[in-house]
Amino acid sequence: MTSTVSSITSTSSLLRDQFVAAMSRVPLSVAVVVAGGADERVALTVGTFISVSADPPMVLVAVKETNPLCKAVASHRRFAINVLSAEQVEHSERFSGRPRTGQPYDLTAARWVSAGDELPRYLEGVVAAFDCELVEARSIASHVLLIGRVDEIVSGADQPLVYWSRSYGIPSPFNNVG
Ligand SMILES: Cc1cc2nc3c(=O)[nH]c(=O)nc-3n(C[C@H](O)[C@H](O)[C@H](O)COP(=O)(O)O)c2cc1C
Repeated sequence: MTSTVSSITSTSSLLRDQFVAAMSRVPLSVAVVVAGGADERVALTVGTFISVSADPPMVLVAVKETNPLCKAVASHRRFAINVLSAEQVEHSERFSGRPRTGQPYDLTAARWVSAGDELPRYLEGVVAAFDCELVEARSIASHVLLIGRVDEIVSGADQPLVYWSRSYGIPSPFNNVG
């Protein structure tokens, strides 16, 4: 019995390791999600930002359930997504908790486009930003799928930041031949 349990455990841990290794080969965009009120504004780097629908415009991010961002989104029912440009590795590092200098998750260390209500929402220099109303927060395993309806869009820099094989980079398009 013990050996059966341990072999199931090792199979599932092998599958998990294979999954993590395989997913590291999948290129991701890098975005910073911002949510919360004036006294508890929080931001987090994510690689799970995708479009869900264009009619109406809806997007999704998956955030670890224990991260304070989930509570901030649940309380305020809004979040903003900033898709980082190639120049913004520093933001990705800061809002994933590993800044080279300064404090992790420090919103005051970044430059924000000033908004009417003065809450930091759009980072300066992003490729695109989407302000969203929460439509659904669905818990799946360790994460919460946050689905938002987009009601404001900002477009900016051309060159997006990509995360691939545990490194940051830029897309390298094939040249059109002929
Ligand atoms: C490129 C990149 C993509 C990430 N994508 C996600 C994501 O989609 N969802 C998530 O919850 N955390 C994501 N993270 C991790 C968080 O940014 C953060 O590092 C993590 O929640 C910190 O967890 P800890 O406080 O337990 O150390 C990503 C980090 C990086 C660098």
